[in-house]
Amino acid sequence: MRAWRENLDIMTDSLKVALLGGGTVGSQVARLMTANAADLAARAGASLELVGVAVRDTSRSRDGIDDALLTDDPAALVARSDVDIVVEVMGGLKPTESLLLTAMAHGASVVSANKALIASRGPELHAAAEANGVDLYYEAAVAGAIPLLRPLRESLVGDRVRRVLGIVNGTTNYILTKMDEDGARYEDVLAEAQRLGYAEADPTADVEGHDAAAKAAILAGLAFHSSVSYDQVSCEGISRITPEDMAAAKASGFVVKLLAVAELADDEAGIVVRVHPAMVPRSHPLASVRDAYNAVFVEAAAAGQVMFYGRGAGGEPTASAVLGDLVAVARNRLAGRPGPGRSDYAGLPVLPLGMATTRYAVSLVVHDRPGALAAVAQVFADGGVSLQSVRQEGGLEEGAPDASLQVRTHVAAEADLQAVVQRLRTLEQVKEVAGVIRVEGGPDS
Ligand code: NAP
Ligand code: HSE
Repeated sequence: MRAWRENLDIMTDSLKVALLGGGTVGSQVARLMTANAADLAARAGASLELVGVAVRDTSRSRDGIDDALLTDDPAALVARSDVDIVVEVMGGLKPTESLLLTAMAHGASVVSANKALIASRGPELHAAAEANGVDLYYEAAVAGAIPLLRPLRESLVGDRVRRVLGIVNGTTNYILTKMDEDGARYEDVLAEAQRLGYAEADPTADVEGHDAAAKAAILAGLAFHSSVSYDQVSCEGISRITPEDMAAAKASGFVVKLLAVAELADDEAGIVVRVHPAMVPRSHPLASVRDAYNAVFVEAAAAGQVMFYGRGAGGEPTASAVLGDLVAVARNRLAGRPGPGRSDYAGLPVLPLGMATTRYAVSLVVHDRPGALAAVAQVFADGGVSLQSVRQEGGLEEGAPDASLQVRTHVAAEADLQAVVQRLRTLEQVKEVAGVIRVEGGPDS
């Protein structure tokens, strides 16, 4: 009997693959397609032949990519009638969306790592895939190497997801880790994250939370079988987090993480999707997710809590997820039918941030005189926000008549908490509301 590798030599099926993008991710996809060609062919059931790689600058050679494959004409590449699968790792919305629509109109299936595009144009792209009877897969778009979308789409499809919570941006987690452990400033660490290939072409998307918001939209759509777009996600980044915020969190036994949260409202009539920095207790598993690693908890009615963990950014980890999709799409193509498409039958509305419920830490500077603490506590009580703890520092010293108050709340509605903060800003005893940060991962949230 011939060995399986020899059998591949006589394998007649071949699928042609066009790659859009030959940068951090694309160069690794091309390299691994060549290095693992025999295994990928055996697993897919056909050899996967790279027929072109679109880049902007064809004069620059790229490790792992044959120069002869480079083209600066992606439109011509996707319009080729012999291309079976287009792998899109070039990023951006334009001209990427029209390139993918052209590819599908020509009968090619699409694998993409482009969360910004999927989160903003997902319904249109899915409709095109369905209309043309092709696949649109994008496992690499969320949490790099971690298998997360397929488990949500397939393994957990028999359950009722209630909440998805996690760290989904490698760049900001890398920055926050260095700020927490080394006291670094985020601007200084950002350059390092860019050098390591974690950051987006415009790193503002990472530090301002937009990348995580796009991923949160994709996760929420899959988890709750509803249509969720990027602009429905409430989003706050890490650019205003200072080393002092990190130190204060550390002193209280917390670490600051950029979290993405998608959850069912209490009455299950809608979902709230949010991205923001949050204090997480150091004892919580998310606190030990360091550097560019990502971790996502999915809470489902029957399964309970399921955790996904792994490398969330970087060329090679992301290429792993792209290649997984490439093999899956190739198998579907050989079987003559596309895989499962979009599921948004539940049609749950995305609710305003004010309906989110969590715990909060509020930092205040108060005039340290009798009754100040009582007045502050009364504002929380009047607003229906229950206090968990209050810690005071400073004050009652000559030349330092102000005290800082660290107030932590029990679970409250965001709208109630924001109303309390507005009222505190006008309170005579309060000199400044120095910071408000959400607290996640505690016993009651
Ligand atoms: P990148 O290093 O900037 O690579 C982008 C590639 O696309 C480059 O080769 C670029 O050509 C090419 N390109 C861009 N616009 C083009 C155009 N109009 N025509 C032809 N070629 C064009 O980006 P990346 O980090 O690999 O990310 C690519 C995608 O993967 C993005 O959607 C990103 O969000 C996603 N992603 C990235 C990671 C990660 O860790 N890096 C992880 C998950 C998902 P030149 O090389 O000539 O400039
Ligand atoms: N810029 C993204 C991140 C890449 O840092 O997580 C992975 O999607």
